[in-house]
Amino acid sequence: MARLFFALWPDAAASRGLEEMAQALAPLCGGRPVPREKIHLTLAFLGEVPPGRMEALEIPLAGAPFDLRVDVVGSFRGAKVAWAGADRPAPALLSFQAKLAAELTLRGFALEERPFAPHATLVRKIRTPVPRTPIAPIEWRVEAWTLVQTLPGTGRYETLREWRLEG
Ligand code: 2AM
Repeated sequence: MARLFFALWPDAAASRGLEEMAQALAPLCGGRPVPREKIHLTLAFLGEVPPGRMEALEIPLAGAPFDLRVDVVGSFRGAKVAWAGADRPAPALLSFQAKLAAELTLRGFALEERPFAPHATLVRKIRTPVPRTPIAPIEWRVEAWTLVQTLPGTGRYETLREWRLEG
């Protein structure tokens, strides 16, 4: 079975900015910075998906590209991660994620019950919480969304599918 999630990926400049932020935060909270190529924003976490259910993840979603702006850092106490997020997430992001989550639910996938908290994890296994703090904004244009697999053992990510936002 594959361990899957839907995600958005920052463009090259934003990835660099987020990686720098990860490296700056790590010594402050005592964790392991996420490498540039792994920094992403999860839209929906699916967990283990049996091969017979993969087809149901071919979800045609209409939506125009939108700008995503990350302007605050903080941490989740339980998950022990520090993240970058949006002080006021773009309505386009929230509505796109809601459409995706609704489709997944219709198709019988069990999603997190907690409300969507858009974030890009920057540091894992933190020892000290990061107080919610504004940062210089990092922005990119979201033009695609992807289905990603976490490879067993290595924890590396592999993009299985990419859909373009058009319009
Ligand atoms: P995280 O970055 O906040 O840890 C791949 O592991 C992606 O799926 C990560 O973005 C991770 O979120 C998310 N993820 C992993 N396990 C999860 C879970 N049980 N619930 C929600 N999201 C999860």
